[in-house]
Amino acid sequence: MEKIKIFSEISVYSNIDELPDDIQTLMAQAIAIREMAYAPYSHFKVGAALLLENGIVVTGNNQENAAYPSGMCAERVAIWSAGAQYPDKKILKMAITARSENHRLDQPIPPCGACRQAIAEYEIKQESPIEIYFMGEVGKVYKSDSLHDLLPLIFDSSNL
Ligand code: THU
Repeated sequence: MEKIKIFSEISVYSNIDELPDDIQTLMAQAIAIREMAYAPYSHFKVGAALLLENGIVVTGNNQENAAYPSGMCAERVAIWSAGAQYPDKKILKMAITARSENHRLDQPIPPCGACRQAIAEYEIKQESPIEIYFMGEVGKVYKSDSLHDLLPLIFDSSNL
């Protein structure tokens, strides 16, 4: 038996003001779309903004449903929208933010496992990394240079 160690690296910004200017703009778009989320059940609103290589920004927010599992996360709404509208354009960067109506989210809110798997599909398809920045409502912003830092031992088509 042997053990392997898997290395992940995350950059930590102390707040939104410390982000590069283009990411502040992208995060502002994520915040704006977050506020339009349809989240009457969880009261937890999430927004995601993707910057494509052609400069277009595609946004998404969570869409809930009375039949709870029929709802969808913001990240997948956004990335599937990008895949639907701009199938040949690379996704360069992604900004994610969440706000709860019940308490103040002052820690970075990471994308859920299913969203990581969905994002991984596009990163592998386009053969270039997607930078992901994520935060709560206020406070620190985490950045991963690639989905591989968020989802080690990724399952992809090479495993089929
Ligand atoms: N949610 C997202 O939009 N993204 C995530 O990565 C985690 C969770 C949404 C789903 C649901 O509408 C609400 O947040 C509470 O789970």
